Amino acid sequence: MFIICLFTVDLNLVNPEQECVYFCGNSLGLCPKKAHDYVNVEMDKWAKQGVQGHTKGDLPWAFCDEKLDSDMAKLVGGQPGEVAIMNGLTVNLHLLLISFYRPTPTRHKILCESKAFPSDYYAFASQMRLHGYDPESSMIFVEPRKGEYTLRTEDILDKIEAEGESIAVVCFSGVQYYTGQFFDIPTITKAGHEKGCYVGWDLAHAAGNVELHLHDWEVDFACWCSYKYMNSSAGGLASIFIHEKHKNTDLPKLEGWWGHKYSTRFQMNNEHDPIPGAYHYRISNTPGLLCAPLKASLEIFNKTSMPEIKAKSKLLTAYLEMRIKNKYPRIPNHIADGTSTDWKHVPCRYSYKQIHLCFINQTEEDQLSFFNQHHPCV
Ligand SMILES: *Cc1c(COP(=O)(O)O)cnc(C)c1O
Ligand SMILES: *[C@@H]1O[C@H](CO)[C@@H](O)[C@H](O)[C@H]1NC(C)=O
Ligand SMILES: *[C@@H]1O[C@H](CO)[C@@H](O)[C@H](O)[C@H]1NC(C)=O
Ligand SMILES: *[C@@H]1O[C@H](CO)[C@@H](O)[C@H](O)[C@H]1NC(C)=O
Repeated sequence: MFIICLFTVDLNLVNPEQECVYFCGNSLGLCPKKAHDYVNVEMDKWAKQGVQGHTKGDLPWAFCDEKLDSDMAKLVGGQPGEVAIMNGLTVNLHLLLISFYRPTPTRHKILCESKAFPSDYYAFASQMRLHGYDPESSMIFVEPRKGEYTLRTEDILDKIEAEGESIAVVCFSGVQYYTGQFFDIPTITKAGHEKGCYVGWDLAHAAGNVELHLHDWEVDFACWCSYKYMNSSAGGLASIFIHEKHKNTDLPKLEGWWGHKYSTRFQMNNEHDPIPGAYHYRISNTPGLLCAPLKASLEIFNKTSMPEIKAKSKLLTAYLEMRIKNKYPRIPNHIADGTSTDWKHVPCRYSYKQIHLCFINQTEEDQLSFFNQHHPCV
């Protein structure tokens, strides 16, 4: 395997015999080896201990998310109390918009990228309708310039400058799902704040992929799933980030009993006593079975750090690009080329317009062929 020639790989974590390299981690990360065992532990606990499983074992279900969220926070640059593990991604985006999207006749817009992920688009549009606003006039976009695929930061800043007073929320993806563009989160966040907007980020393709410093960047809110770059299984638990500065503000929220302090939660007296910070957003009790594969994944991430992962990822990505260009000299540049030559803004992801890159067959050392499920791509 060529990867072994370049880097030290822990052979306990990979199968050196495999003939294909998986390139769909942007859609669904592969299963960490320990995930099976950890899920089985929870299954056995349920079978043998029933309700006692809520407080027993390494992942007591009543606190299973709390066992993992500091490791999760580390990956996105969150402080203790700023991150909660809960629900699915789009559900969380809705819960956050309930707090941060409070449209008024003079400030009712959401600014996003023109090709926002459909689920985010639907969340924005339905939130607007919920408040009696029309997405036609309340949703505004930044589009790539003619002949370009990615957005220029200056164009995003110009849009904020021009329309900022009427924008309630600026919400982009951290890394664009289609182009792989890594947006300049601190600069855009600052520009939004200067116009009095809340600024939030959907980090589905950024979390576990690029270095993030959500606390230092003063991001108001963020959400991400964990089944893409974070290998937590299909539909695995998502997360939210709420900046510390909002810890004691009385932004409206949809509440449930899991946002209530543990010490008094089970008095069942209908007097909500919320945990300040991100936990206040938790509504339901957390599924222990979904925490198990997430634990297996976070343990691996926890052995290293995002800067180390990024350093390796840049080398691997550059090596892949070299192989592609050697083998297919006529292939056009990947679509983020030209707009982000700065490595800081290149995630571990190349998007090519012509090929849908799914798997690479590298059985023979000099052979590199791309194919997806249906037909060869190149
Ligand atoms: C993957 C992805 C989603 C998927 O949302 P789910 O609620 O997890 O199904 C939403 N938004 C973005 C930007 C994504 O990349
Ligand atoms: C996540 O899956 C990718 C493949 O998509 C794999 O390369 C990576 O090692 C996995 N990481 C963890 C922590 O399991
Ligand atoms: C992650 O690593 C830190 C030390 O860097 C350690 O304190 C923590 O317990 C680890 N988490 C897990 C789940 O192993
Ligand atoms: C990969 O290439 C080898 C050698 O050409 C071939 O035998 C094998 O079937 C290919 N695998 C896939 C999944 O196409």
